[in-house]
Amino acid sequence: MYGSLSIVEYDNHGKKYHEEDPKKLAEFEARIERGEKIEPMDWMPYEYRRQLIRMIEQHAHSEIIGALPEGTWITRAPGFKRKLALLAKVQDEVGHAQLLYSAAETLGKSREEMINDLISGKSKYSNVFNYPAVTWADSAIIAWLIDAGAIINQVTNAKGSYGPYCRALERICYEESFHLKYGYDNVVHLATGTPTQRQMVQEALNRWWTPIMHFFGPPDKASVHSEILMKWQVKMASNDAMRQEFLNMYVPKIWELELVIPDPNLKKNSNGVWEYTEPDWDEFMRVINGDGPCNKERLAVRRVAEEKGRWVRKALLSPTEKYVTPLA
Ligand code: COA
Repeated sequence: MYGSLSIVEYDNHGKKYHEEDPKKLAEFEARIERGEKIEPMDWMPYEYRRQLIRMIEQHAHSEIIGALPEGTWITRAPGFKRKLALLAKVQDEVGHAQLLYSAAETLGKSREEMINDLISGKSKYSNVFNYPAVTWADSAIIAWLIDAGAIINQVTNAKGSYGPYCRALERICYEESFHLKYGYDNVVHLATGTPTQRQMVQEALNRWWTPIMHFFGPPDKASVHSEILMKWQVKMASNDAMRQEFLNMYVPKIWELELVIPDPNLKKNSNGVWEYTEPDWDEFMRVINGDGPCNKERLAVRRVAEEKGRWVRKALLSPTEKYVTPLA
């Protein structure tokens, strides 16, 4: 897969890494320092490629799985206009996955391999999509606050070093900004509605607060990949910096709606830094490693989609052959 690269693999006390040609590596890092974009056919270190595949692939999976919790509300959305809007949003999310799978493919991993790694449980995807959208208010909180978190991450990383990923992120951000407005509109509607509607949205916020705090990744001191990703300008801000940015932008908006954030210790200190109760990081580890409330259900749905859609993909790849649609 990395045929053109000179890669030497060492086993250093059980840890494998790749030694690169120092001259090529220095040139590569100088390009990044100058703010140049790295393109698919350019020389890149093995580890840069590996990290990008890991991250973009996980991101793509998150978009395709992310369509599921909100997707369950399409048939039950209150009113025709909301149904249409939600349908369009969910379609956008699946489209984001297509863009991201294409960006990851430029690095040498095929879409088929990526999908197989998703449905076998080998690849990760965002923690948040392993929780259920219990009520309509949950779908409103997802569209507002999860999409807000995603925008903070994506706007920041769109300024990064790998061309195809940055271009995909830019395009995704335009659509996500619209999703955020849609989500905010739904939350405002509920928060300014009847006491029952207010209670619904408050309960949804209570359910989603911990997953949202987890969404930006483990605290910087526990982040495994940040150092190298930030050095090579793939990640343009640390996990904690993005979490702070989210709190800065959205806590005031949540308070404005007179909703209560379920963390009595949440406050901005005199240095302008948000202090909060650490979310349960053991729960985070369980959820991202396959043991969250909906992990099994989410992967089962994707498996069915993969199996039932196989004949369509085959037909598209070989349009001259005649395929018989399998009976449901
Ligand atoms: N959900 C699931 N897994 C997560 C996660 C999350 N919210 N945050 C971190 N992790 C995983 C990482 O993927 C990594 O696992 P791995 O080594 O098995 O691949 C592990 O936890 C350690 O975290 P860290 O070293 O901090 O990972 P990272 O430097 O890749 O940072 C993100 C995590 C999510 C900030 C980063 O990968 C990213 O920006 N991804 C692209 C955006 C994205 O995927 N958004 C999700 C949906 S819109």
